[in-house]
Amino acid sequence: MSDQPVLPLNDGRQIPQLGFGTWQIPDEDAEGIVHQAIETGYWLIDTAAIYRNEGGVGRGIGRWSDIFLQTKVWNESQGYERTKKAVAKSLERLGVTFVDMLLIHWPCPDKGLFVDTWRAMIELREEKLAHSIGVSNFRPQDLDRLVKETGVIPAVNQIELHPGFQQRELQQVHRELGIVTQSWSPLGQGRTIGHDTIRAIAEETGQPAGAVIIRWHLQKGFSTIPKASRREHMKANFRALSFTLTDDQMERIDALDDPAGRIGPDPAAFC
Ligand SMILES: NC(=O)c1ccc[n+]([C@@H]2O[C@H](COP(=O)([O-])OP(=O)(O)OC[C@H]3O[C@@H](n4cnc5c(N)ncnc54)[C@H](OP(=O)(O)O)[C@@H]3O)[C@@H](O)[C@H]2O)c1
Repeated sequence: MSDQPVLPLNDGRQIPQLGFGTWQIPDEDAEGIVHQAIETGYWLIDTAAIYRNEGGVGRGIGRWSDIFLQTKVWNESQGYERTKKAVAKSLERLGVTFVDMLLIHWPCPDKGLFVDTWRAMIELREEKLAHSIGVSNFRPQDLDRLVKETGVIPAVNQIELHPGFQQRELQQVHRELGIVTQSWSPLGQGRTIGHDTIRAIAEETGQPAGAVIIRWHLQKGFSTIPKASRREHMKANFRALSFTLTDDQMERIDALDDPAGRIGPDPAAFC
């Protein structure tokens, strides 16, 4: 695992580029699926309190001690005290004493609680219950407010990002602030796999379409967390570590961007 690509975080730590997502994997299946993912070679596992599978994910990680584990604080747990309680419960369900990365799941701007949540997370990091802290679905103005009010820049912003929705302006903000971009729904929830351009490049490279898309994320410099409950999908996507796309192939995937291509909720309103 240690020969897999990593990215430097702004807190001095590192994050694996290739990870494994677990949204919509039921708790009772999570143990087996996460176990298979780790056997396949995935080193970063992403979960969240709201996925209601932290127990199964923790059991799936089991005896492996060097897995990079991420979880998230759900919207209704935002606020200083609630965050601390929620994280204690997440750690208990996961069966661990710390997580490698703790994220605020959504900014919920209308609630006005993400700065208080962040203050709790800064303390949780000092207490070593989370080694690194970051956010998810934060817009430029949310990042700006967090940094202005606390002086602590998130290590990661996990955002919806796939060839059909690339969020280039937000990527630029991340570069300026030294935040790692982590792409969620990197396969467009599976929809991008059937795109003509992706199929053509899969044929040219002799690689599975899923691996072509994940390879694009890696070469763009993102950390990415494809989800697969089927073993053949896990293996296909993992092949992304074993080949390179040419500049021309990268540009053809770049050209699939559609600013209106969002699949998930809009962070301005979702909570
Ligand atoms: N922070 C957030 O707000 C947020 C929001 C959404 C997601 N996420 C995270 O991001 C992770 C990934 O996103 P996602 O689960 O929405 O979507 P995704 O990873 O883009 O796509 C997953 C879907 O693609 C299918 N698939 C995977 N590999 C495939 C392959 N090689 N060939 C064909 N189909 C394939 C999967 O099928 P099978 O499962 O049947 O194998 C599943 O239906 C989540 O699991 C979660 O950890 C975070």
